[in-house]
Amino acid sequence: MFTIRHYSKRFLTRSIIFRPLSVGITNRQKTNEEFQPTINLIKEDLHLINRDILQHLRCYEEELNELAKYHFDTKGKLIRPMIICTMARSFNQQEDNFLHENQRSIATLGEMIHTASLIHDDVVDSSDRRRGKPAAANRWGPRKAVLAGDYILGIASIMLARIGNSDVISLLSRVIQDLVRGEFMQLSTKESDAEQFQDYLNKTFCKTASLFANTCKAVALLGNLSNININQLADYAYEFGKNFGMAFQLIDDLLDVTATDDDLGKPATADLKLGLSTAPVLFASQQFPELQTLILRRFSESGDIERALELIDQSDGKARTYHLAEQYANEACRILNNFPQSLNGSNRFLKFLIYLTQSTLKRRH
Ligand code: FPP
Ligand code: MG
Repeated sequence: MFTIRHYSKRFLTRSIIFRPLSVGITNRQKTNEEFQPTINLIKEDLHLINRDILQHLRCYEEELNELAKYHFDTKGKLIRPMIICTMARSFNQQEDNFLHENQRSIATLGEMIHTASLIHDDVVDSSDRRRGKPAAANRWGPRKAVLAGDYILGIASIMLARIGNSDVISLLSRVIQDLVRGEFMQLSTKESDAEQFQDYLNKTFCKTASLFANTCKAVALLGNLSNININQLADYAYEFGKNFGMAFQLIDDLLDVTATDDDLGKPATADLKLGLSTAPVLFASQQFPELQTLILRRFSESGDIERALELIDQSDGKARTYHLAEQYANEACRILNNFPQSLNGSNRFLKFLIYLTQSTLKRRH
């Protein structure tokens, strides 16, 4: 499904000087001053998105109301709406400061689909914590949590239908389909190591990159760029989102074996505990074949997780995972070269997308 092209980093280094920072925009983070006006615009978008989510989810059933809104708090990184709004604005070149209501709706309902999937995921994974607090399933029980996820999905579907564009409806429906396929895929482990890595990449696309890819394409189609190549440009937006999403998830998988519970706001080494093999352990198994036995029995025996972590540490699994994330991130940035110059020549949204892409490689949670 994926071909990673090897190419030089010249494009990145000549475009911008990157500083390490986390992805979310918060006041305490140092950001490149060049981006401050852009960040202020996107922050305003995020504020409206948060407001819209709470308004749309409102219902008369008090407990459902509370439960549905529970995970939409300030602890989320909001990286999805941030990328979607920035991509959307880059497609509105006639009016540099403009974000169409339908484009903002995509960011809003994209975040709703994502959060609904996390609420369900915590039930599937029997996970107690999410975004630094008890998971909804932990507080209300799995039955109510699943229903709340369904409810959020229902509201997101109404918003999607109101946009009234059948291509966009297909793209966002594909996201939901992929989320379920990805979650389903990880319930079993492939026999051979070659199959395991391909399965891991496919699952990563489905669970994470598909949402970035399809929402980026949707806002591109909903933009006001008058260009006869709009379908081609929308495909580039998709490719950007796909590569960004792959890089984002690879870093997530790396953090799972390097960060602490507190850093993540959820239990670390959760993947191994769930029996899941992600890039660090799959790469490590190429150096230490004894890991295959542990991978195939999904780290189910006492001492398996500790041994896997030891071998990951001794291997170059973490470095190779980071390197692969870097390749996807570089590819995401390279694709932005295909986008047209903005009318005022600033290309500030494209530069900000590059900045966010590089920042995702440096994040700590
Ligand atoms: C997080 O995975 C989970 C997802 C990104 C997708 C989960 C999808 C479903 C449960 C299918 C149902 C979908 C919808 C739209 C209701 P993770 O366990 O790797 O990450 P975590 O550490 O954040 O839990
Ligand atoms: Mg989980």
